[in-house]
Amino acid sequence: MKKKILITGGAGFIGSHLVRLMVQKYPNYNIYNLDALTYAGNLSNLKDIESFSNYKFIKGDIRDSDLLYDLFQEYDFDGVIHLAAESHVDRSIEDPLAFVNTNIIGTVNLLNAAKRTWHGQYEGKLFYHISTDEVYGSLGAEGYFEETTPYMPHSPYSASKASSDHLVRAYHDTYGFPIIISNCSNNYGPNQFPEKLIPLFIHNILQGKALPVYGKGENVRDWLYVVDHARAIDLIFHEGKDGETYNIGGFNEWTNIDLIRLMCRLMDQKLNREEGHSEKLVTYVTDRAGHDLRYAIDATKLQRELGWEPSLQFEEGLSRTIDWYLNNNVWMEEVTSGTYQEYYEKMYNDR
Ligand code: NAD
Ligand code: DAU
Repeated sequence: MKKKILITGGAGFIGSHLVRLMVQKYPNYNIYNLDALTYAGNLSNLKDIESFSNYKFIKGDIRDSDLLYDLFQEYDFDGVIHLAAESHVDRSIEDPLAFVNTNIIGTVNLLNAAKRTWHGQYEGKLFYHISTDEVYGSLGAEGYFEETTPYMPHSPYSASKASSDHLVRAYHDTYGFPIIISNCSNNYGPNQFPEKLIPLFIHNILQGKALPVYGKGENVRDWLYVVDHARAIDLIFHEGKDGETYNIGGFNEWTNIDLIRLMCRLMDQKLNREEGHSEKLVTYVTDRAGHDLRYAIDATKLQRELGWEPSLQFEEGLSRTIDWYLNNNVWMEEVTSGTYQEYYEKMYNDR
């Protein structure tokens, strides 16, 4: 049984939900959260569990190979769940090298530290790499991404994630190193940094700011509540098969504009604003370069083999998510102060 588990990127959006789930569900495990605390990492995401005796936070960067090796020597991890990454497509268009360094080199550093420490003794060990559906590229109106769909990434972000997936698989095929990869669709929920569509638009609706819809708003994404992703990761970590890939998705496709209209409607109700008030903020802006048209995951392998399915209906999840942001305005104020304003101006002023 894997009891000393290193989770990377545990102070970020998905990572913090996963850390909470693992720390609370497995009191006999030791959960180590390694995170560099970039702009996207936030320890206040984990305030409620930071004093648990089976939890330890380690501030550190996966680009630092010596640090990783030292940590493996010190703690003798027997499982790794690797989420640390640069995760925003628009930032990858501005600065691809940051994505190469963290997502590709950082992943190889982690693989090397585990391989050197485990030294061929792979019984009970697992390196579980968390990836994205964006590695598969873009769909037309029909079809789904399956685990066997060929990779065809378009953005520097998805190309860096695809590259890291290939490297993880190469360690399995070359060295017999124990790995699993999962590729998930768009997550939403509490604690997501307001650079991504849903929290950004909640923030802008609250502030009465323009809602910058890229292109015609016709792009389609498949949305999954973040806790359902964390549940899937837990299940795959414990019951997935060595060397396998699992797709995770919400069976829940929305065009951006329909999703935005739904958010506007829900927020008008919650804020007691007149119907149609927030929708007037919709502003069509220059499209994202290389914007993938449609993502849709076929998650039937995970359903069939491990019995997972999403637990939450989308409207319910979206409503809960909006409530979380409305009730946690201090969190929102903290993450949108300082450099966030510079980011926003750089990304949106000339669009
Ligand atoms: P996020 O940006 O919210 O969090 C990333 C975390 O990684 C942050 O806490 C950050 O501080 C940390 N980090 C970044 N660079 C680091 C480095 N060099 N060393 C150590 N820590 C570093 O990201 P997220 O949305 O929670 O995504 C987590 C993972 O899940 C990523 O690998 C992403 O590719 C994948 N994923 C995300 C989604 C989604 O919809 N958000 C969907 C599928 C897969
Ligand atoms: O599919 C999984 C991926 O989902 C993850 O791997 C990524 O880490 C995550 O960021 C997300 O990528 P997307 O690019 O799909 O998410 P984002 O929230 O940035 O955008 C969702 C859609 O909304 C996309 O079609 C672009 C559009 N959009 C986004 C922003 C930020 C807008 O129209 N306006 C915006 O201001």
